[in-house]
Amino acid sequence: MAAVEVALAGHVRSRAGFVTEAASHLMEAGGKRFRPLLVLLAAETGDRPDSDDVVTAACVVELTHLASLYHDDVMDEADLRRGAETAHARWGNLVAILTGDFLFSKSSELTAELGADAVRIQAQTFTRLVEGQILETVAPGPDEDPLAHYLDVVAGKTGSLIATSARYGARFGGASREVEEALTAYGEIVGSAFQLSDDILDIASESDESGKTPGTDLREGVPTLPVLMARAAADPADARLVELLDGDLADDSRHAEALDLLRKHPAMEQARAYVVARAQEAKDQLAAVPPGPVRDALEAFADVVASRTA
Ligand code: FPP
Ligand code: MG
Repeated sequence: MAAVEVALAGHVRSRAGFVTEAASHLMEAGGKRFRPLLVLLAAETGDRPDSDDVVTAACVVELTHLASLYHDDVMDEADLRRGAETAHARWGNLVAILTGDFLFSKSSELTAELGADAVRIQAQTFTRLVEGQILETVAPGPDEDPLAHYLDVVAGKTGSLIATSARYGARFGGASREVEEALTAYGEIVGSAFQLSDDILDIASESDESGKTPGTDLREGVPTLPVLMARAAADPADARLVELLDGDLADDSRHAEALDLLRKHPAMEQARAYVVARAQEAKDQLAAVPPGPVRDALEAFADVVASRTA
């Protein structure tokens, strides 16, 4: 991870000082480096976990993720990320969007170093990621289950890149094709669970824990897992909550009241239990990995996702 960190700092550099400043802003603000960590961990299942390509792949996925965050904060009109001012809040939308594009271009340049197959995988991953993000802005069809629609969004916008992190790690670390496929399936589920726990934290946590403004999804009208579960419960006692959710949550007092009602709602526990079940499902994919410290770490990684508090 130290090698990845050094490499990342180099990859966000531009010949223009201001571009370097904008592109390194979110990376220096912190972040969990969840995706590169998974690349490195997955690489341990192979016979060359220390290969330079593993570090390159770890940078590819983190830079892609970073790029998407610059754009995401514009879409969400978020002011805070990783405890720092977001790029659009500091420099405006134009700089934020183009910095996202710059980081994505850097990620693409690096992917080319990994060969044509990696480029194809990265392109397919990015298609899914953007599709998921677009679908989040579209209401489910009349015959579509809102929860199924949402899980499809989550698999696209977050599951895809985390699945590819696991795939790249296994592939460039020299694992067998069987292990690569198993780890990709594991990554897809862990990734979705990671996003769903993020949704729970959006409601449950305070900004000093998450580094973000609580209730952002709610304010933006994104119907995340706890909200969908609360709505599906259709309990008459929830009339006020449903009224608030159906109305304008850009209003500060309505937003605070909805957040308060949701925090106390049994749907929060139901959502947490769902995430724990998904983490178990992810661990069930690991049968192809021989028992030992690497499999233990991958299992622990899935558990951390289910119980994360930041
Ligand atoms: C976070 O969701 C957002 C994503 C996982 C993906 C966003 C993807 C895009 C905006 C497309 C990017 C396009 C280019 C060209 C780089 P969230 O808002 O639920 O999570 P948060 O709580 O971290 O904001
Ligand atoms: Mg967001």
